[in-house]
This record gives sequence, structure tokens and C-alpha cells, in this order.
Amino acid sequence: MLIGSATALDGMQRFYAELAAGGDPLDVAVDVCKVQEADPEDQSVGLGGLPNEDGVVQLDAACMYGPTHKSGAVACIENILHPSEVAKLVMKRTDHCLLVGKGAYEFARAHGFPHVELLTEASRKAWLEWKENLSKEDDWLAARDGHRTANLGPVRSIVADSDASPTPWKRPTGTIHVSALSSRGEIACCTTTSGLAFKIPGRVGDSPIIGAGLYCDQECGSAGATGRGEASILANGSFAIVELLRQGATPLDAGREALRRVVRQAQRLSKWQPELVRADGRPSFNLQFYVLDLAGRFAGVSLEGGKFAVADPERGARHEELALLEA
Ligand code: GLY
Repeated sequence: MLIGSATALDGMQRFYAELAAGGDPLDVAVDVCKVQEADPEDQSVGLGGLPNEDGVVQLDAACMYGPTHKSGAVACIENILHPSEVAKLVMKRTDHCLLVGKGAYEFARAHGFPHVELLTEASRKAWLEWKENLSKEDDWLAARDGHRTANLGPVRSIVADSDASPTPWKRPTGTIHVSALSSRGEIACCTTTSGLAFKIPGRVGDSPIIGAGLYCDQECGSAGATGRGEASILANGSFAIVELLRQGATPLDAGREALRRVVRQAQRLSKWQPELVRADGRPSFNLQFYVLDLAGRFAGVSLEGGKFAVADPERGARHEELALLEA
């Protein structure tokens, strides 16, 4: 079976049959992620991903395979369409776990990946608009005719309405995660992202960090994260969830416990970064975890709700509601 972020649904619909027919769970998880990486309309990964503050698309991705307990990852890789496939090659063809920046790019080129310009017109315009709205005091002027310069597409739905405020941007951190369990009981996972939109160049989120953006263990299950990467890193969220599965927690209880830790950690950190917590004490950011155990039980949990994607033999590929912290 497959479980992952809502945006993984298209890929699950295309590749679930391959898993059901005995395909390798790592290959299927990566293939599902590649569908979104190649989609220019998805501004959270790969082609068309929102760039860093310099206007450069920098991608992070990782994968992990339960039967060998081996992982591979790339971070801050530029001009490569499929970082998830490169992460799989790092896992299979090197003794390392993580390659970054220029080294990751050259490793990909050496393995025949073409150089690709990943910044689409829509993402370039979204970046320009973000720059124009950074500050009233800087030298960038926002459009004054009431029209936004960019059609922000899917980003618009997760960005606060900008018309009322000069600094309206709630920056997106969209990401694809997929965990896969084969009929032979092998577990694997993959996470891929263009990271926090307009990030500081060189910023690495949770997606390529084993234990944060993803983790699996052949003895207990798999987990992955999407949302604010810094919170997922600080909680070591995916590792924490898999360890809770090991201790006997259900996927839902394990996911909720990880979210509870994230909330407490944000509250502690808010003494230095008050913007992380709202007036009601809840985090001002969103974070999701996707959890799958070896029995095929699963859960998607979230601070703010929404959907996740799942595919199983009984009902095929579909969206389900993410569970909130409260029962
Ligand atoms: N979760 C993706 C990121 O923060 O980069």
C-alpha cells in the first residue's frame, strides 16, 4: 500500500498497480514523486518549484529502503529535474547518505541527468512579486494597478490574501512524501521538495534529512513529513514516529504524539521567536505527518487539517482527511 501527501494522488493512481503487481516499494515511491517533480503546475517541487530569494530553484530529496536500512539524499541541488531519482542513486551507487549543492549536481550529470532550467515563468513572477512586497522601505515597487503580476496558481490557495497588507506572504513549504509497503512486507519511502519558497540560498529543510522529512525501519514502519521543515527537524519527527510504532503505538497515536511534541517545542521557542505561536497558543505554521506500519495500518495527521493520499487493495488511490491533534 501507499500513503503520502495529497499531491501524491496523481502519481499513486499511475503507479499503484505496479506495486500491487509485485513492484519494488522504493522504485514505486520514487516514481510517484517524479510525477509531481515533472509537473510545472506544482510549485512545491521540481520543475516550476518556487525559487530561493535569489530566484534560483534549489531542490531537496531523500529516500530510504527498509530491507537494507540504507538511505540516499541530495540537498540544494540545482538544474536537475528529478532529485528523488538522484537520491536513489546516492543510495545505490555510493557509500554516502547525502550529497549537496555542486557535488550533487555533478554526481547527477555524471549519471546522465540533463541540465534543466527549473524556473518557470509562473514561478519567476511569483518570486518577483514576493520581492516587490517585501518592505515598504526598500527599492522594489509593487504593481499599483491592483493586478498581481503573476498567476500564482496553486500557491494562491496557501498564501494569505495580499491586497490589504504590504507584507502579506505566508511562504509555502509544499512537499511530496510517499511511504510504500509491498505485499512481501518490504517498506520504503521518499520525500522531495523545492523547500520553503524564497528561502535563504543554501537553506536545507527537513525533506533530505533522515529522521526528519522521512524515516523507515523494516522492524516497525515508515513516516514522512510535509510543512514547516524547521519544526520537523527540531522534533526529529519521522524518526520519533517510527520509534513510537516500535513501542506499540498505532499510526494515529504515533503521529499525534509527534505533533504534540512539535506544539510544545514551538511554545518553548516562541520566547525567542514569538511569531511561531498564535495568541491561542497554537503554532502559527502547519506540519503534517504520514505514518504507515508493517501491518498496513496508516494515518495522516496535521496541525491544520486538509487531505492526504492513500492507495490500498480494497479501495485503490484516493484522498482521505488528515486527523487533527484533538480526537
Ligand atoms: N518541508 C519542506 C521544507 O521545509 O523544506
